[in-house]
Amino acid sequence: MSQDSAPVIRLADYRPTPYAIDKVDLEFDLTPERTLVAATLVLSPRAGTAGEPLVLNGDELTLVRIAVDGRELREDEYEASADRLTVKAPPAGSFRLEMTTRLDPAANTKLMGLYRSSGTWCTQCEAEGFRRITYYYDRPDVLSVFTVKIVAPKIEAPILLSNGNPVSSGDLGDGRHFAVWHDPWPKPSYLFALVAGDLDALEDEFTTMGGRKVKLAIYVEKGNAPKAVYAMDSLKRSMKWDEEVFGREYDLDVFNVVAVSDFNMGAMENKGLNVFNDKYVLADPEIATDADYAGIEAVIAHEYFHNWTGDRITCRDWFQLCLKEGLTVFRDQEFSSDMRSRAVKRISDARLLRSQQFPEDGGPLAHPVRPEQYKEINNFYTATVYEKGAEVIRMLKTLIGDDAFARGMDLYFTRHDGEAATIEQFIACFAEASGRDLEPFMVWYREAGTPTVTIDESWDEAARRYTLTLTQETPATPGQQTKKPRVIPVRFGLVGPDGKDMRPSGIAGAEVNGDTLILTAPSHTVTFEGLPSRPVPSLFRRFSAPVKVRQSLSSADLIFLLANDADSFNRWQAGTTLAMTALVKATQQVRAGQAPSFETAPIDALGKLLDDPALDAAFKALLIAVPSENDVAREVAENVDPDAVATAHLAYRRTIAGRLEARLRAIVEADNAAADQPYVPDAAGSGRRSLANTALDLLSITGSAEAMALVRRRFETAINMTDRMAALTILVHRGDAGAEAALAAFFERFGNVPLVVDKWLSAQASAPLPGTLDKVMTLTQHPAFSFGNPNRVRALVGAFATSNPTQFGRADGKGFGFVADIISRLDAANPQLAARLLVTFRSWRSYEPKRRAQAETALRSIQGKPQLSRDVADILERTLA
Ligand code: PHE
Ligand code: ZN
Repeated sequence: MSQDSAPVIRLADYRPTPYAIDKVDLEFDLTPERTLVAATLVLSPRAGTAGEPLVLNGDELTLVRIAVDGRELREDEYEASADRLTVKAPPAGSFRLEMTTRLDPAANTKLMGLYRSSGTWCTQCEAEGFRRITYYYDRPDVLSVFTVKIVAPKIEAPILLSNGNPVSSGDLGDGRHFAVWHDPWPKPSYLFALVAGDLDALEDEFTTMGGRKVKLAIYVEKGNAPKAVYAMDSLKRSMKWDEEVFGREYDLDVFNVVAVSDFNMGAMENKGLNVFNDKYVLADPEIATDADYAGIEAVIAHEYFHNWTGDRITCRDWFQLCLKEGLTVFRDQEFSSDMRSRAVKRISDARLLRSQQFPEDGGPLAHPVRPEQYKEINNFYTATVYEKGAEVIRMLKTLIGDDAFARGMDLYFTRHDGEAATIEQFIACFAEASGRDLEPFMVWYREAGTPTVTIDESWDEAARRYTLTLTQETPATPGQQTKKPRVIPVRFGLVGPDGKDMRPSGIAGAEVNGDTLILTAPSHTVTFEGLPSRPVPSLFRRFSAPVKVRQSLSSADLIFLLANDADSFNRWQAGTTLAMTALVKATQQVRAGQAPSFETAPIDALGKLLDDPALDAAFKALLIAVPSENDVAREVAENVDPDAVATAHLAYRRTIAGRLEARLRAIVEADNAAADQPYVPDAAGSGRRSLANTALDLLSITGSAEAMALVRRRFETAINMTDRMAALTILVHRGDAGAEAALAAFFERFGNVPLVVDKWLSAQASAPLPGTLDKVMTLTQHPAFSFGNPNRVRALVGAFATSNPTQFGRADGKGFGFVADIISRLDAANPQLAARLLVTFRSWRSYEPKRRAQAETALRSIQGKPQLSRDVADILERTLA
């Protein structure tokens, strides 16, 4: 297969370009029929490179004109292909290169470069989309100052936007008009953006701490401005928070956000002109759930925070992607923690990391947080780079302390402002600020794989000495057979019989930093002296390191921690460990042909917590949320039979629902009684709804007529999308007799709101029922579905593959076959989307042999297709390796 020959790009091969681009002028002439882009670059040779050929990137480009210093080049002076432009012998000094390219945005289905979304012209340039607009050094270390002129028909595109500040605009008299934008901040091409269309705006303003008045606008499709109110509110809170917590001020006169309906990712931090998937902008209580609101707040913050961590300081090369992404995720997580409940946020983030990043790190696609090679950079926008990247920064902060961390950040901002930096330069700032040697810490960036920390304990009653042995081990990952020990911060408490932390008179065996042990060696034996009795150890409080922990605490100890630990995270963790142990054991029983059986003490302990008025509702909801079937499968790890997992999972939920029935019912009824309260998407309101809906979900598992009546009632009387959607999902997933009518009523009401159609599609695609695959196939023909829209595809096919373990993992292989066919079919039109769907196969080797063979057949069927994209070929090659 020719794709196997895609070249490997290596970090070790990094070289600066021979030329710098001092200045860029772009002029876009947009009409529905054709688009011309005239680019004028001022280039100058870097030291010692004068006269070297100029080689620029392109991708599917058509060149119509080229001139150097005002003179059109003869054919023998340059070579232009779709993906490269070479000027063979440029002038020795600085020179001006003019190029005109012709584009067809309407035919651009890859959604990279300049494309059309619902009639709006928009761009996406990260990572390598700018080269689909004009020839350029399309790499992050070439920074330049951009001036952009947009010419477009007035009727079709009254709104003309680009990066930076507006300079001028005017009428051209022939039905066209123009606008000029200038961005004073040098930036790499991946941060370029242009939007032209007939859009409504929600406007506001923000005064920065330095007194700069910034005009804010969120552009949306006609009629949707009221749905951008929450996004605008989130934006202003983000701007304020970044000033208060990181001392970072906004630096242009305007800040624009545009929501588009066709977008491959969540959103994009283009300088001064963020472009968003409309899913992360549009909300009102009728159409958005609490989770949607939280997502909008987090993504708006994330993109805004990139203004400093990404735009003002960018990445030297794409290997350094986590420099901006891990850090910016860390910043948005901190923001959300400050806006909502810190404990609840920490638990959600740990769950996300375990469900998305751990399987990546433990499978064929494992790569370091800072990879050292790639074939297709699009495939490295991963949970490892983003979420593990954020955890690494959090560990760094734990390791050196809050003050040194803050000084290190300040140093980074002053020292590297305006530069394209590396992880080494970033870490050097913290080494300097803290005085700590951080070289050992770099292993977190350089090596892939999730360490397991195994804990053994002993108590010497006579000596009053408690001993913990902590041993770390990281499994081999593709291309990295041996692993170095890592620096692992273990935030700990030794819980005494009264539930309070005990204070040892001395600790030896590892560095101690406040309430944190710092592991650096493969194994540490840590002794705690002078304790009155054996403590119950509470380790990795607040999830202090992204590791797996192997520890055999008794059920009694775990129940004790669940009830008493001063650390909320570890209370939840104790409950989760109890549930997981029960679920894994039950799965083994099912596979051995036995009936699953469960201890009742842990369930009764949960019941007690539900009665505790001191605990907030969101936390209680997390306590009773059963680990997912995918979570259990991951824990089982080999020879997974998703049907056995599902049987055990169902039995476990039935047991809980039976034992806690009265309490669960009381929770739902209390929430019904509060039904007339206005909807507020804040921590308190969403916590209450989340607890009630989790309780309802559990109750419904009994299938009792009474429980299902409660669900139907909720569906019919809901005044917000959170409750309506929760009830609809339960009806559909239980195969309730009223499910079809509910789906029809829901579509009747919301069929014209694409983001809500996505929920309708996902609820059906994730139903654990034998008829689901046929249903999903039928839905691909539904008028509201389109293979051209990434949100629709993810809502239907993505949800089927990621949230329906028994039907995607059908024993007859038809689930795998269906998803594989969709991937093959999508690849030519939108390779990024196809490649992301393919990632759902990453754990295929964990299945029992029959399913493993079926999954391999499906993967090979994709491999057999001619002309695979580099995106899909790369994932496929690694998945099958
Ligand atoms: N840089 C974007 C973000 O995380 C993600 C993105 C990557 C968007 C590539 C589009 C293309 O904020
Ligand atoms: Zn980002």
